[in-house]
Amino acid sequence: MVLDDKNGCSMSKILVTGGAGYIGTHTLISLHEAGYEFIVYDNLCNSSQEALKRVEKIIGEDIEFIKGDTRDKKTLQKLFQNHDIGSVIHFAGLKAVGESVQKPLEYYDNNINGTLVLLEVMKEYNCKKILFSSSATVYGDPHATPITEDFPLNTTNPYGRTKLFIEEILRDLYVSDDEFEIVILRYFNPVGAHESGMIGEDPNGIPNNLMPFISQVAVGKREYLSIFGGDYDTHDGTGVRDYIHVVDLALAHVKALDYINSRAFNIQHSTFNIGTGEGYSVLDIVKAYKKASQKEIPYKIVKRRAGDIAKCFANPNLAKEILGWKATKTIEQMCLDSWRWQSDNPNGYKK
Ligand code: NAD
Ligand code: WQD
Repeated sequence: MVLDDKNGCSMSKILVTGGAGYIGTHTLISLHEAGYEFIVYDNLCNSSQEALKRVEKIIGEDIEFIKGDTRDKKTLQKLFQNHDIGSVIHFAGLKAVGESVQKPLEYYDNNINGTLVLLEVMKEYNCKKILFSSSATVYGDPHATPITEDFPLNTTNPYGRTKLFIEEILRDLYVSDDEFEIVILRYFNPVGAHESGMIGEDPNGIPNNLMPFISQVAVGKREYLSIFGGDYDTHDGTGVRDYIHVVDLALAHVKALDYINSRAFNIQHSTFNIGTGEGYSVLDIVKAYKKASQKEIPYKIVKRRAGDIAKCFANPNLAKEILGWKATKTIEQMCLDSWRWQSDNPNGYKK
C-alpha cells in the first residue's frame, strides 16, 4: 500500500487497464515490488488470463482482475463505485501499425473512444491521476536523432494518430481542469521478458515486430527473417531503433507514479521519452540474438517496409532528471531474456 500524499492519506489502488498484456504484466510485478496495490481491467482481446496467473505465481499473491472493455461505461462506473481508485495506468489499446491501416475505424473506436469513456468515468469519480502509454511513433520520421520530447509531432498511420490524438485530448483535459495530473510516457521499442522466463510477448499469428520474429526463427518456428531494407543511411544499411528492456520500461511506470504522487509533480514536465538513448540496427540485433540463443538466425535482405524510417532513438535525459529513471539493461540481456521466454514457451501462453 502506498500513501497518496497529495490527496491526504487515502490508501487507494491503481487501476491498470490492459494489465494482462505484454507491458502491463511486467509492470504489475514492478508495482507489486514497489508496494503499490492494483486492479487489472482488460478485455483480453490480445492477452490471456494465463498471463495473469503467471504473474500471480511470480509475485506470490492473487491479482484482482475484472474482465471488461474501456468503452463499457457501466462496468467502469461500477468498478469505480466499488473500489477506491486513486490513479490509472492506461495500457489498454490496439497496437499493430499494419492492422491499423486495414482497420482504422476499429483502432479509432477502441483506442480513442476507450480513452474518452475512461476519462469521463475518472472525472465522474474524481480520480485525476493518469499515466498514458504513448509511443515514439508520434515523432513520425524525425528530422534528427536523438529525439527530445520537444520534437515536432507528426505520425503517419492510424495507430500513431490514435496515440497523438489521445495525447492532445489529455493536454486539453488539463487545460479544462488543472487538478488532473497526467504523465505521458513515449516508449521506444520494448523487447525482452521477465528474467523468470514465465511471462513475455505472445503475438498472435505472424509477429510484426523484429524481436518476436527473430525469436520464432531461433526456436525453429519460422525459416528465416526478412530484413526490411539494407540501403538505409545507417552504419550497416539496416534500420536503427532504440530497444528497451520491458523490465526497465516497467520500472519507468513506478517512477512516474511516484512522481505523480509527489509534490514535485509539474505539468510542464510530464511527457517523457522512455528509451535507452542507444541505437541498434537490425543486423546488430540478429548478431546479439544469435549469441544469446546459440542458434543460427538465417535472414534475407528484402525491400523496405512501407512507412519505416531509417533511424529512431531517444534522448532519455528528461526522464533521468525528473523521474530519476534510467534504463540499465543491455542489448545482451534483452536477447537472453527474450530467448529464455521463447525457448521455455515455444507456443506462448497456449498449452
Ligand atoms: P498488448 O496488446 O500486449 O497489451 C494491451 C492490452 O490491452 C491487451 O491485454 C488487450 O487485451 C487490452 N485491450 C485492448 N483494447 C482494450 C479495450 N478496449 N478494453 C480493455 N482492454 C483492452 O500491448 P503492449 O505491448 O503491452 O502495449 C501496451 C500499451 O503500450 C499499448 O497502449 C500500446 O499501444 C503501447 N505501446 C506499445 C509498444 C510496443 O511496442 N509494445 C510501443 C509503444 C507503445
Ligand atoms: C524494428 C526494425 C524494421 C520486422 C513499431 C511501431 C511503434 C512501436 C514499436 C507501438 C525496423 C525491422 C522488423 C521484421 C525487419 N509500437 N524489421 N524485419 O517499426 O520500429 O516500431 O513497434 O507503439 O509504434 O511502429 O518496430 O520491431 O516492427 O521494427 O527487418 O520482420 O526491424 O524494418 O527497422 P518499429 P519493429
